Amino acid sequence: MSAVTKLHDGVGEVLLTEEQIQARVREMGEQLSRDYEGKSLLMVGILKGSAVFLSDLIRATKIPLDYDFVAVSSYGADTRSSGVVRLLKDLDASIEGQHVVIVEDIVDTGWTLRLSYLSENMLSRRAASVKVCALLDKPCRRRVDVGIDYCGFVIEDHFVVGYGLDYKGLYRNLPYIGVLRPEIHARQ
Ligand code: IMP
Repeated sequence: MSAVTKLHDGVGEVLLTEEQIQARVREMGEQLSRDYEGKSLLMVGILKGSAVFLSDLIRATKIPLDYDFVAVSSYGADTRSSGVVRLLKDLDASIEGQHVVIVEDIVDTGWTLRLSYLSENMLSRRAASVKVCALLDKPCRRRVDVGIDYCGFVIEDHFVVGYGLDYKGLYRNLPYIGVLRPEIHARQ
């Protein structure tokens, strides 16, 4: 059983407030609206972390669009990547001719995007184009080169939670993004 009994327990510094996140997501939606105007847009969220971001981003994007989800495995209970990425849930329908934007919560080492071959996979299914949109980018932790076409915020090397991001399944429902206290990691 988890030792966390209150929602904010374990969160140290607030890195990005709810207001900062919402303002940036609005800007990103405006940019997507301009870039994809007149095109058939499909946003593909990577479960579970991107679900909160995706749900705000689609409403900030003021053009017709559809969305779907894929699930890949990358992290176990620990905060370090296992280096093994499996496709756990595929897209529901054909994406032929659609302009795909892959929506990720955070790009850390880059292994999830690289080892899942999501972009290549979607292009092989005749997507008209594939771009990557990430709310957070932690470039200091990058192990493999991953192109991010739309980036919300660049952050330092912190383990962050909230706004969809979890630690052992918790904290996803925080409206802000906070740094997890190091002693919480150490406690496992
Ligand atoms: P990557 O494969 O190392 O780029 O990591 C991508 C995935 O790891 C993200 O989609 C998250 O699920 C998880 N992750 C990486 N850094 C963090 C973090 O600071 N907090 C919570 N999850 C993270």
